[in-house]
Amino acid sequence: MNRRNFLYPFSFSAAAAILVGCEKESDKNTKFDKKSNETQKMVQEPQKNVINEKFEPFTQELKIPKEIDFEHIAKAKFNAQKSSAALYKEKKTDVLTFQGDLPNPTIRIKNGDDFELDFTNSLEKQTIIHWHGLLVPETMDGHPKDAIATNMTKEYRYRVNQRAGTFWYHTHPHGRTGEEIYYGLAGLYIIEDEDEKRLNLPSGEFELPLIIQDRRFDKEGNLIYKEAQQDNIGILGNVIMVNSTPHPYKNVKNTKYRLRILNGSSARTYKLAFEGIEEFMLIGTDGGLLEEPIVVKDILVAVAERIDIIVDFKDKKVGDSITLKTLGFKEASIFVPNTAYPGFDSKIDIMKFKVTELSAQNQLQIPKKLSTIAKMKASDASKSRVITMEIIEGGVWTLNKKPYDMHRVDERVKLGSTEIWEIKNSVHMAHPFHIHGVHFQVLDRTSKINFPTDKGWKDTVLVMPNETVRIIVKFTIPGLFLHHCHILEHEDHSMMANFLVE
Ligand code: C2O
Ligand code: CU
Ligand code: CU
Repeated sequence: MNRRNFLYPFSFSAAAAILVGCEKESDKNTKFDKKSNETQKMVQEPQKNVINEKFEPFTQELKIPKEIDFEHIAKAKFNAQKSSAALYKEKKTDVLTFQGDLPNPTIRIKNGDDFELDFTNSLEKQTIIHWHGLLVPETMDGHPKDAIATNMTKEYRYRVNQRAGTFWYHTHPHGRTGEEIYYGLAGLYIIEDEDEKRLNLPSGEFELPLIIQDRRFDKEGNLIYKEAQQDNIGILGNVIMVNSTPHPYKNVKNTKYRLRILNGSSARTYKLAFEGIEEFMLIGTDGGLLEEPIVVKDILVAVAERIDIIVDFKDKKVGDSITLKTLGFKEASIFVPNTAYPGFDSKIDIMKFKVTELSAQNQLQIPKKLSTIAKMKASDASKSRVITMEIIEGGVWTLNKKPYDMHRVDERVKLGSTEIWEIKNSVHMAHPFHIHGVHFQVLDRTSKINFPTDKGWKDTVLVMPNETVRIIVKFTIPGLFLHHCHILEHEDHSMMANFLVE
């Protein structure tokens, strides 16, 4: 993997000095606006000649991750390793995997069942796996302090104890999470339960996992990570992979599909919509099903968030094709990232669904009542604390002005207590705020943007530029956990903190 030599060609502080410098400009808003207009002129379409003139988007079939189903096995094995994967048809790309190929397997397990996995680290540096959205004991969570050295094995063993939903796993080494996820070390983790089963939602071939990740490739089809100092604002790519397939297509029948979507990108927020289908249904968020489906025309998915949606192809005929696209989200940032790649505001076609068969079962209805969510009230909280998102002198992304220190306890929380966390973003860029070991509810936010996902259980919430979001959280698991921005280049460069529940 010779590319890895080029990972940090520029220092972060140089990049951030630029940011801080800009922040001090009295005319900062107009200045930034001018710049972002320039980026709007950039490529708005998926680029065709990504690795060679012959590559055409939507000609590769969507890969579906194989499943590790704990109904049939007692224990799984992961081995973080260098591998090569056929991301482009004939071409092998150097990547990192857990079992030798991409996409990594999807874990499927029932609530109440025991999860067991032996994790071996065959990489050159220490690492650890985190189960994002799982409510597990501290020692199983995958905090960077628990990273294991090369050739060591860690045994994960815990009982799943939470409602059904779409979660994910990824490595979480100190300062290198972005790079490892970028090269491949992430996958989906699906929890099922009886309540959800009773709803009879589309399943089997009608349930599709979609892990969306934008990437950069050079002409030979090698992945490129950091190239320029602006990349510390967040890596944006020009090729969007779904399940490790660049701009794929998927043949479908003219019926309802359940799409479990994960934004596994480094920095891009997607505003997802379908060309050819006006409306679809949001049925679930990070922490599982909503109380009732919400009909939407488009939906925002920030890094690390999951959405569970139902899309219905019933009015389509054989031969029709429907494009899943991002409409662009210029509100995400007035900072201009690496202009060699489509910016936050860019519209990009992600993948196509091609209707190739009629379906006998397209009358299936989605229940109006999906689940029950016990609504938490501000008065349930015994304490409230403020977490600020800021850039400090020297240009470092931080929470509460403190660059991350793996061994410092930043917040002490009483076990069993409920708190309000007020997340204040003072930066001109949206940050997805994530907390380990809990699910929370959004109480309110100061911006006008509509987030239907605020209605469900969350573990990650997008905090808009200069916005304050209030969330309410109950802490039920003792130990040291993390909270951080989930833009990978931000969490790696210090926008992270520890809280101790005791
Ligand atoms: Cu996806 Cu620290 O988490
Ligand atoms: Cu997490
Ligand atoms: Cu951030």
